[in-house]
Amino acid sequence: MTALNNVSWDEFQKLSLADKARYLMSEGIPVHALIAQQFERDDLDKLGDLTTRIRQISKTREGSLFLSGMLSHKRAMLYFTQPSTRTFLSFCAACQILGIKTGEVRDTATSSEFKGESQEDSVRTFSSYFDMIVMRSQIGGLAERMAWVLSNGDRPVPIINAGSGKDQHPTQALLDIYTLQRSFENTGGIDGKTIVFVGDLARGRTVRSLAWLLTKYENVRLCFVAPEPLQIGPDVTDQLDAVGTQWEKTSEFAESIPDADAIYMTRVQDEWDVEKGESAKIDTSAYCFTPAHLLELGENAVIMHPFPRRNEISTEVDRDPRAVYWRQMRNGMWVRAALIAEIFGCKERIDSYSEEPPG
Ligand code: CP
Repeated sequence: MTALNNVSWDEFQKLSLADKARYLMSEGIPVHALIAQQFERDDLDKLGDLTTRIRQISKTREGSLFLSGMLSHKRAMLYFTQPSTRTFLSFCAACQILGIKTGEVRDTATSSEFKGESQEDSVRTFSSYFDMIVMRSQIGGLAERMAWVLSNGDRPVPIINAGSGKDQHPTQALLDIYTLQRSFENTGGIDGKTIVFVGDLARGRTVRSLAWLLTKYENVRLCFVAPEPLQIGPDVTDQLDAVGTQWEKTSEFAESIPDADAIYMTRVQDEWDVEKGESAKIDTSAYCFTPAHLLELGENAVIMHPFPRRNEISTEVDRDPRAVYWRQMRNGMWVRAALIAEIFGCKERIDSYSEEPPG
């Protein structure tokens, strides 16, 4: 098996994302969940099925009790040193669904990193107390580095990347794919669909991870809509070209709406501004979804947003059945529960759960 303890950090960090992916899966099960590139179409289908199964089982008290006994012997560390509402709380809820107990650090000012402890030592400490680490950091690639450190230590617990720098947000992309799978289950699935990404595409890690996962579907067309300073970069489009996924760039939002099967709105990510106030100088007023746009949108199309939102989607749009972003957010809890269940090898037990009382 290709494992992280068989490669030096220097070698690993120089690998392409596709090559890194080979170190992160073992027989279709994530050893760590770090980058979108480690998931193949088959993995996405399996994860979607398991997510639906967990959702169904949890509808009854008996089912919820069954699920909450699944991993009640495990503990998870939620190490979120960058702000989060949804990702943090949905991982917390996902752990509760499976009976996992959680601990948390949400600010290095309250941990010994404040006293100068390195992130490596912090994470090794967490691995002494916990069986899994879910981490969000503003440092790109930190989750990869920590996964390598743990895999080469005596407590190789799994790491899940809950958002790293501007580069990756793989679990958001997984829940986005699940939302698309469900949204298109009666219209032929994701294959052949046109997905329109709108907003700050230059700095959006959710777009970066989701664009890659969409390459796993046949004849998908991606359209990137943004003002020029916020447009998607060659780091993404070169990858799309390499695998032959169709894409285009435009600054004309209104014109992209009629052809869209899904519109993925994003906010301006001004927390990444190099100079204070730099984003505010960019006119993004034309990149907001308003009730008037609903008239141009196809009847089977959907509107998504990873959230948090500011003004990119008018709240009046929320009532339209094509606005699926609240469902998308809730899907995050179920998909993350399914991912954790897969990592800990619970899939077969969940698949074989019977709702029928024993006869
Ligand atoms: N989508 C997302 O990552 O939201 P949070 O920043 O609230 O976790």
